[in-house]
Amino acid sequence: MTFHVLTLFPQMVDEATSHSILGRAKNAGLISVRCVDIRGFAVNRHGQVDDAPYGGGAGMVMMAPPVYDAYKSIGSGARVVYLSPQGKLFNQRMAEEFSREGELILLCGHYEGLDERVIEEIVTDEVSVGDYVLTGGEPAALVLMDAVSRLIPGVLGKDESSRDESFSEGNLLEYPHYTRPPAFMGRAVPEVLLSGHHKKVEEWRRAQAVERTRKKRPELIT
Ligand code: ADE
Repeated sequence: MTFHVLTLFPQMVDEATSHSILGRAKNAGLISVRCVDIRGFAVNRHGQVDDAPYGGGAGMVMMAPPVYDAYKSIGSGARVVYLSPQGKLFNQRMAEEFSREGELILLCGHYEGLDERVIEEIVTDEVSVGDYVLTGGEPAALVLMDAVSRLIPGVLGKDESSRDESFSEGNLLEYPHYTRPPAFMGRAVPEVLLSGHHKKVEEWRRAQAVERTRKKRPELIT
């Protein structure tokens, strides 16, 4: 999977995808993150990429030409995902759909927004990572890349991927996990987990997952 990221902060995106599982996936060539610095397509030698809004008002608007030229430099017909609080709310189903694309272009906005005309011209999907406003699209793009990458075959190790059931299949939250020591601050590990009875453990975990989901996220139970 190749993620092309149109951004004003390529270092932030490169750095944040260089650790842990994503870093390993990049090194293994399972994903690649190619940042295109929008400022490299500035309209003048001062590096200008934003301007005052027509019609007045506070804040600045990201100009269409630098964004468009940065996009054209990629030379790809891949879907263009614009990260914005006005987008469709990101979820596991969308992550799965995106993971089946070989290539994605992620467009990170800044300032008060992007000139509407470049959105109309190039964007195929508008995605929000939650009903709150971020300072820019980069943290949202990182969320999307993380959720999509872990669905790419080979990105998660065997141990990691076998635990992938929660959201995608049963639509349930994960059951609680325990490891050594057997007692912590007077709290014991649930007896059944020490029993060595695999079927009982499985039943208990399933029941816990259902119970947790009912308690914490009842709206997930269909
Ligand atoms: N940019 C600013 N806020 C955002 C959000 N909630 N989701 C995606 N992109 C954003």
